[in-house]
Amino acid sequence: MRALTSQRLLFVFDLVIILSKYQKDSLALCFVYPPMPTAALTHETEHPDIAKMPQSGYFAVLSDIHSNWEALQAVWQDIGEFQCRGILCLGDVIGYGPEPARCVEWVRNECFATVMGNHEALFIENQEIPADEYSMTVTVPIALARSQLSAEQSQWVHHMPFTAEAGPMTLVHASLNDPACFYYIHTDEEAGDHFSLQSTPISFHGHTHVPLIWEDYEGEISCYDATGEEVKLRRRGRYNINVGSVGQPRDDDPRASYVLYDPERHQIIHRRVAYNIREAQARFRLANLPAFNSHRLARGC
Ligand SMILES: [Fe+2]
Repeated sequence: MRALTSQRLLFVFDLVIILSKYQKDSLALCFVYPPMPTAALTHETEHPDIAKMPQSGYFAVLSDIHSNWEALQAVWQDIGEFQCRGILCLGDVIGYGPEPARCVEWVRNECFATVMGNHEALFIENQEIPADEYSMTVTVPIALARSQLSAEQSQWVHHMPFTAEAGPMTLVHASLNDPACFYYIHTDEEAGDHFSLQSTPISFHGHTHVPLIWEDYEGEISCYDATGEEVKLRRRGRYNINVGSVGQPRDDDPRASYVLYDPERHQIIHRRVAYNIREAQARFRLANLPAFNSHRLARGC
């Protein structure tokens, strides 16, 4: 693992990225998402029983599919190349892309546990999305999801928990620091807030769409790049793994991102998977989604 030379540098870098994205997409949900009171605030932590699953092999952990069926299919195929005992999903199944119903159905059928993302939280709000707070890049795909999802699929989204604990793993879309507020983890302090609420050796999150490894080693917080190589985690460390995004990566690499985790060997691999981006973009155009949503797929940012 390669340590970043300065956490301050990472923060400044992220801030620049955020500001530049903010200018391009001034009301993009992921950068200005405000705390939002919602019925889902009462959802309790789910405890899926992983003892029912095969007792060896990887867990595949996915996040931020964002209705991108092309990317999801490619990841599904890649998962098939490994001995996997189960798939876990960290939310934002919907939003941004053209095929929310198809992606929701796949996640319902294939994933052992799924937690709520900020786009699902927006979906279940019982009101119009305020146009002065969110750009059309967000509101149009949410409206599409509301028209596309069946009553049964919508009910499933409504009942997603904000967090889940399965064996050594905690699942959350953003931070354990008030999961319903979807705070970003960009700094040591924000990572520390998260770790202070993490009771398992490892947690997984998404939300920023940037794959990373956060480590809490005896109270010292470090951040490591995701290299794609197999990473042996330290037994005395605690970890918070950002799995990146399946359907809309934002680390300047357009390939879909997810993570494989082997709990017995305490190892992870950040996987990157190429997929047919032109075909995905054609699907976006067919659904009349804002051009920005499809253009960014090719840039990976
Ligand atoms: Fe997202």
